[in-house]
Amino acid sequence: MAVKETRAPEPTAEEISAEAERLYGKGLADLGWRDPELERAARLTWKINRLKTARSAVIAAHVYQRAEIILGVADFVGDSYKLAKMCAESDAKRVVFCGVRFMAETAKVLNPEKEVLLPAPEAGCSLSESITAAQVRALKLKHPGAPVVTYINTSVEVKAESDVVVTSANAPKILRRLYVRHPKIVFIPDAMMGKNLAYELGKKLGEELVIWDGSCIVHDHFDSTSVEFYRKMYPGVKILAHFECTPGLVSVADFIGGTGDMMQWVADHKAPSYMLITECGLGDLARTRFPGKVFVPMCRLCPYMKATDLSRVLRALERPTASQRIEVPAAVRERARRPIKRMFELADDTCAS
Ligand code: 13P
Ligand code: SF4
Repeated sequence: MAVKETRAPEPTAEEISAEAERLYGKGLADLGWRDPELERAARLTWKINRLKTARSAVIAAHVYQRAEIILGVADFVGDSYKLAKMCAESDAKRVVFCGVRFMAETAKVLNPEKEVLLPAPEAGCSLSESITAAQVRALKLKHPGAPVVTYINTSVEVKAESDVVVTSANAPKILRRLYVRHPKIVFIPDAMMGKNLAYELGKKLGEELVIWDGSCIVHDHFDSTSVEFYRKMYPGVKILAHFECTPGLVSVADFIGGTGDMMQWVADHKAPSYMLITECGLGDLARTRFPGKVFVPMCRLCPYMKATDLSRVLRALERPTASQRIEVPAAVRERARRPIKRMFELADDTCAS
């Protein structure tokens, strides 16, 4: 089948400078962007925004994406849960997913009739790569009757073997609901998050909560040793850690949660400064959303999340490569949809469990 190509026109000098002005107003200047970078980005964001309308596409971006993507071209910005919900509710023909593969696969499962494009097709995730569908089947044989609760950071094949999907925004709530009926749960694949959940819910690891040994290469590097030092250096600093951080760090943090919860916590509190211990994109976004607040730098870059840039987004809209187009076989898609839908039900406050 011939690939339909639609090229965006070249912007004029006036259009570039108007677009650079728009990007400036969106907050890129707060992150240190100066005129030459703004103009380089403006040429691409102008074309992407033109093409997006022509191709009836929406751009979904995870909060760890580059600031020029989030502020310049994204229609939906959020954590894994919010993006999954938004993609399920959108009526656009096409979704360009600025994030990693498991997120784009989830969008495809929920929108089989839409074209889902992943600008950086090699963008995986260390958690997703830590477990296979065959390993989940073996776990089910070893722990018969225990529901398999799977973090959304997994391949679609792994989700297809699971009972319920969770994200860091809803894992404690969903597990609590499942424990009402099940004495034992298998949680995969993030060991750090599994340990944090066991602690929060008061469950015995290995008996009531069986975990896997996957970890996030970004969050497993942070530890608690420097926290005391920063607390002395920045009196009153509030330390927020992602659920994927080590239990040692989580035990000394002021707040633990997913990226959406961390942003909400900052919005709801008045502190002299905040430290967001997670991927650097969240701190950048927080600096633009809360210009009056002080953020102490403490972050790591996720190489998978940062693989997407404006030129690859433009390419996906103009002439997507076969590898940028996400395809999920119907049989896998149908099996993976159930545990994702189950997450929506169990995360809903009106659900009776
Ligand atoms: P959130 O669901 O909190 O956005 O996390 C996604 C992720 O990949 C964290 O590393
Ligand atoms: Fe995966 Fe960690 Fe990157 Fe999130 S930050 S996509 S969990 S490797």
